[in-house]
Amino acid sequence: MAVCLAKHGYEVTGIDPNTALIQKLSRGEAPFYEPNLGEYVKSATETGKLRATPNYESNSKADLTYIAVGTPSREDGSIDLGYVKEAAGMIGRSLRNASQHQLVVVKSTVLPGTARSLVKPTIEKESGKIGGKDFSVCSNPEFLREGRAIHDTELPDRIIIGSDQPSATERLETIYRAFHGGNLPTVIKTSFENAELIKYANNAFLATKVSFINSIAGIAERVPNADVKSIAQGIGLDDRIGPKFLNAGLGWGGSCFPKDLAALLHFSQTAGSDPELIRAVIDTNRRQAEKATEFAKQALGSFEGKRIAILGLSFKPETDDLRDAVSIPIINSLLKNGADVRAWDPRAMTEARRIFGDHIKYSADALDCLNQTDCCILVTEWPEFKNIRPETFAGKMRQPIVIDGRRVYDPVEFRKAGIRLQAIGLGPEP
Ligand code: UDX
Repeated sequence: MAVCLAKHGYEVTGIDPNTALIQKLSRGEAPFYEPNLGEYVKSATETGKLRATPNYESNSKADLTYIAVGTPSREDGSIDLGYVKEAAGMIGRSLRNASQHQLVVVKSTVLPGTARSLVKPTIEKESGKIGGKDFSVCSNPEFLREGRAIHDTELPDRIIIGSDQPSATERLETIYRAFHGGNLPTVIKTSFENAELIKYANNAFLATKVSFINSIAGIAERVPNADVKSIAQGIGLDDRIGPKFLNAGLGWGGSCFPKDLAALLHFSQTAGSDPELIRAVIDTNRRQAEKATEFAKQALGSFEGKRIAILGLSFKPETDDLRDAVSIPIINSLLKNGADVRAWDPRAMTEARRIFGDHIKYSADALDCLNQTDCCILVTEWPEFKNIRPETFAGKMRQPIVIDGRRVYDPVEFRKAGIRLQAIGLGPEP
């Protein structure tokens, strides 16, 4: 959001207590991998449109402030709103002597009621000002995907603005009208609480779609000649279903789905409603990652002393993010059972070293990873893995056992080439 606003000519100041992050941004470097982000950060800092500082007082002059801090999960799945409260307090203190009317926009994913009952009163308390009169608050969740963050910021499917004050909603809409120009999508103007819940419902629905197709995959795996890919194609052509988010695999991970579904479940249980479906979606996903080791065990018998190659570690392609990646429970389970694990990921090796330390071996590339292994598990569908030929697997590996966790390979071709292929959602060979 910051670099895209800067690109459109706005003066943007990023405020964060993390000084390493501030220094990186000030040098014009992106703090993590995201397609095109590097160029955007570089040009935004070069033109002077983007500044980064740990000093919150510089917020006092802003016309608009986004709260975009993390909302992590606690052990019990509930959401920790500590950073949101801190940010609101900081905004309030910065506004004590401000003369302009600031619009405060909550972008962080927060539970229904947060903007009204936490953000607004905290700013009022710390600033001594009155919400609605001296400053306003809007809830404006984002729906961007990692790996497509810039695209989704520039071309969102819709814009959701929640507020208790129509003039605040209008002000934010005017800003987005200028920002998106002819590409302005539908703007939904609603209450704070609806805006906050739309974000959770959106992620819960997408995760449900994936867990649904993974459940169908489990059925297909028991039916000779069945293949979930064909089933997904067949149902996806129904207009009412649609083809997206029907890729069966080892399950969903990342910084949003696991945390947001856990928070939604916890929130609704606290509010007195037990959403059985959400619980099933989460449970289905947990079991899905276990399929990787179940398939490998069926093929290998035991893991003791077996060399296992893991292709892909990030929670999905085009990111170096390992947060709640399914690779983590899979590798931990293999290690616990005595396997010798080696891994390769085009972007996530640095982060992987931080997580797995010297418990696994880190390969130089995908082919090096396969060398003399007894089994290969494809965990993340990076495009470069799609091009590995079955003969390459057969030539490099000690035993040609491949677990296709993301349905990348053609089972007929692989099996013809002598590979023992097990794949999510693929029925047994008749
Ligand atoms: C998600 C939402 O898509 C986005 O709108 C929200 O703002 C943040 O959360 P992101 O976490 O970047 O975005 O990843 P996404 O592309 O949605 O994928 C989430 C997980 O689902 C990944 O682990 C992915 O591998 C998995 N997935 C997705 C599948 O297993 N099958 C699919 O068909 C789609």
